[in-house]
Amino acid sequence: MITSYLASLSGALAVRTSRGIVVTMSVQLLEYSSRELPDSLKCQILSFLRTTWPEDFVGPNRLRTWLSPESHHPLHLLLVENGILISHLEIKWKNLDHAGQTYKLYGLSGVLTYPAFRGEGHASHLVRIGTVRIRASGGDIGMFHCRPALRSFYTRAGWIPIDRATTLVGMPSAPVPSENLMMMLFLSDKAVAHRSDFEIEPVYFGRDTW
Ligand SMILES: CC(C)(COP(=O)(O)OP(=O)(O)OC[C@H]1O[C@@H](n2cnc3c(N)ncnc32)[C@H](O)[C@@H]1OP(=O)(O)O)[C@@H](O)C(=O)NCCC(=O)NCCS
Repeated sequence: MITSYLASLSGALAVRTSRGIVVTMSVQLLEYSSRELPDSLKCQILSFLRTTWPEDFVGPNRLRTWLSPESHHPLHLLLVENGILISHLEIKWKNLDHAGQTYKLYGLSGVLTYPAFRGEGHASHLVRIGTVRIRASGGDIGMFHCRPALRSFYTRAGWIPIDRATTLVGMPSAPVPSENLMMMLFLSDKAVAHRSDFEIEPVYFGRDTW
């Protein structure tokens, strides 16, 4: 297992394994809007999503070829070696109405590492970069949802679990509670002032969580 990154990801990457061996990988950090994303990388992301979350590829989305709606302004961060996708995440944003306020909300989505490269710190590295970007974005809040098991994975990057929050998803006319854990960042003065609203009043997030 690789235990630490020894150099930045701007070129060759030296990593130390648990046996103290230093190996060099030519991992590149790449960044694309969805329009710029090369087909070969998009295909690898889609293939992962299709097998990991098949419930997102049913009904009218059975043959889905898009990653995120353009209305969410997706930005893709990828770790790639020799054209092979190692790890990926999306940063996206939308406006969220909650408890009488409108927030510019940034979130992480599509966080993945292909199984062969897991436990090497790649997703943590991307989450740290994505979180720095969100903090500098000018948004009011960061928010996304994850399985409760991934709580410490995201808290390590500064995300705050909102244990008492209720997130509603589905049709606006008949929303249902999500079982996922809400993770947040409180960025603007408005968000800091209204922090407790997110524990008290259910959040209608949309058709599905990010
Ligand atoms: C979660 C995931 C992105 C982690 O990628 P990775 O590159 O292996 O992550 P890192 O090496 O940076 O960090 C691994 C850490 O995540 C934790 N982790 C990974 N999967 C986990 C899981 N299913 N449950 C609990 N913890 C998990 C590991 O325990 C490890 O923690 P440690 O360093 O304290 O041992 C990867 O396992 C994956 O693609 N999973 C399937 C897709 C998914 O669930 N994405 C998250 C959506 S919110």
